[in-house]
Amino acid sequence: MSARDPHRFVNELDEVAINNLIARLESRAQDDVFACLLDNYVVRLVLPPTARVLEVGCGTGAMLRSLARREDFTGKAFGVDQCSHFIDAANKFARAENVSDQLVFQVGDAHKLDFPAASFDVVIAHTLISHVTEPAAVLKEMARVVRLGGTVVIFDGDYASLTYGFPDHGFGHQMDMALANATFNNPRIMRDLPRLLPEFGLTLTAAWGDAVVEIGKGSYFKSFAETYVPYVKRAGLLPAQAVDVWLDEQREAMKNGTFFAACNYYTFLARRT
Ligand SMILES: C[S@@+](CC[C@H](N)C(=O)[O-])C[C@H]1O[C@@H](n2cnc3c(N)ncnc32)[C@H](O)[C@@H]1O
Repeated sequence: MSARDPHRFVNELDEVAINNLIARLESRAQDDVFACLLDNYVVRLVLPPTARVLEVGCGTGAMLRSLARREDFTGKAFGVDQCSHFIDAANKFARAENVSDQLVFQVGDAHKLDFPAASFDVVIAHTLISHVTEPAAVLKEMARVVRLGGTVVIFDGDYASLTYGFPDHGFGHQMDMALANATFNNPRIMRDLPRLLPEFGLTLTAAWGDAVVEIGKGSYFKSFAETYVPYVKRAGLLPAQAVDVWLDEQREAMKNGTFFAACNYYTFLARRT
């Protein structure tokens, strides 16, 4: 079997797998370093008091809940995701955090958004573009639904930079690539954005990179490995036994303080012109 990005094909997964992805999305959002990367771009957004914000591929709504908790956010935010289980979870978490008045979640496809042209001030893809079937089609839709002068934000990892420490460097590199290919339909898409954005009337206004790094102990990359290693095995990208040994070694390294893992993330802000 070949690699099938679990977020791209989420609607083919069973309940256990979906609950594992929900747990991963929620634990990731609570990671201090990862949450900081979101704050770094949110503070740069110009949000009028009645701002309308759309997050495409909102998952469980963690990013929008974080936006809604901000005192300076008084607008309305919409989240669209292809997975109805994620949308149910997003509604449940928003109610539990008393932010549901400001948030609207609905099922939909990022390639064909069910909104009129120019209906949002800000449109965000927070770790979506690496998963979709056709990134250019999604960018085109994001550019269509944002108003002239509005902002499109694309935040995602550059998964060719995803790496875990492993004593056998050769196998470690194969495992890094297998994890990237099993988990992301478009692991290198962030490198294409400077070329793609202008094709859809999006003018780059700011872009920067951050590294998420864990040395000694692992939390963010622990949950990443535990969530996505099963997809490496399922796709048959590497021998299952060797993959198990790799995961055991990562867990051991986290216990004894010798763990290392890192990945680069990039943020692009573009104005609709
Ligand atoms: C890694 S998750 C990110 C979720 C959320 N943005 C966050 O940061 O917590 C990727 C999300 O994109 C969604 N997705 C993938 N392809 C999609 C599509 N074509 N249309 C809508 N959602 C899509 C998946 O269902 C999943 O919820």
